[in-house]
Parts: sequence; C-alpha cells; structure tokens
Amino acid sequence: MTTPLPQLVILASGSGSTFDYLLHSSLKGLLRAKIVSLVVNKPNTGAMSIALNHNIPAFEINKKNFSNESSWDLEMCQKVTPFQPDLIILAGFNQLLGPLFLAQFKGKVMNIHPSLLPHFGGKGMYGNHIHKAVIESKVKKSGITIHWVSEHYDDGPIIAQKEVLIENNETVSSLEQKIKLQEKQFYVEIINKILIK
Ligand code: GRF
Repeated sequence: MTTPLPQLVILASGSGSTFDYLLHSSLKGLLRAKIVSLVVNKPNTGAMSIALNHNIPAFEINKKNFSNESSWDLEMCQKVTPFQPDLIILAGFNQLLGPLFLAQFKGKVMNIHPSLLPHFGGKGMYGNHIHKAVIESKVKKSGITIHWVSEHYDDGPIIAQKEVLIENNETVSSLEQKIKLQEKQFYVEIINKILIK
C-alpha cells in the first residue's frame, strides 16, 4: 500500500505564477505533496483560473464581503479545515490572516518573501517596492526568505534563506528577475524538507 501524500492548501492573491509552479512540481512528483485546494482573496486572479483548469477546488474569500473581521476569519477556517492540510502555503497572498485561522493552523502556515528578512519586509514591502528599497539602500546582497506566518506582515520564525548577490550595475528589474528565477525552486525544496521532518 502506498502512503498518501501530504496535503497542501495554497493561498494566493496575484498572477499565480508561484501557485502554477507548485502545482506543476507536484504533478511531476518534484514537490512531494498534493495540492488539495486554493483560496484567493480577490476576483479575477490568475491563480483561480489555473486551479479551475486543473479541477482543484478553489474559493474566493474576499474580506470586503464580510461585515466584520471575525466572520471572515471563521469562513477562512471553515473553508480550509475540511481539506485537512498538512501545510498551508502562501504564494503571493497579500493579506494578514486572522487570529482564529492562525490558531487553528498553528505551525502549519508558510510564506515566501523576496528579500533577506527581517530586512525589507513589512507593510508596503511587496513586488518592486522591495527591490527598489534594496537597490537604494546600497546593500551588497538580497535574497529569499521562507518563514512561518504570524499575525504581522513578513514576520514569524525564519525557516530558510538564500542569498542573492547584488552586482555593481544591478537594477530593480534585474534584481527582481534574479530572485524570481530562484525563489520557486527554493520554495519546493524547503516545503519538501519540512514535510519529511
Ligand atoms: C513572489 O515574489 C513571492 O516571493 C511573494 O509574492 C510573489 C508572488 O508572485 N510573496 P505570484 O503572484 O505567484 O506571481
């Protein structure tokens, strides 16, 4: 009898390129887990289209449609719980999670951030803003951080980091490209490591 694969629920807000990479890595057996569901927090995300094309149960849970924070938090828990995730993977999810959700899935929620946290993280530090701040600060290296998720942006214990060196002629977009080229594969590697612990 084969052992069932660990189950992942993915949370995303954007283009879904990270979700797409994780999904294809899983289908190829490179990510040793099964993606069982996707939750997005706004309409018309790339991630939602990808999930629907692959028959992955996907939900849009938009905080704006709830009258208060706790009913949204409860709905997040109620949608995700039946999938019995071993890990919940944030893949470009741009919203803080609620206290109920974080308590329910304590020690199971991971995020990836394209800088060396605790530097260049926190509210407003997303996409190009991160790489612009890095270049302007004249630091010699940036990188990728994978961390457990807490109630604050880009906070929580660091699981793994990878450095990316900054060249003399580095631009915001060249740095962004360099990090994008490495971060998804790094995410797969670290998720696999966490799952076998
Ligand atoms: C990635 O750069 C990731 O590090 C950050 O959000 C971005 C997600 O991109 N947390 P995408 O929406 O998956 O293309």
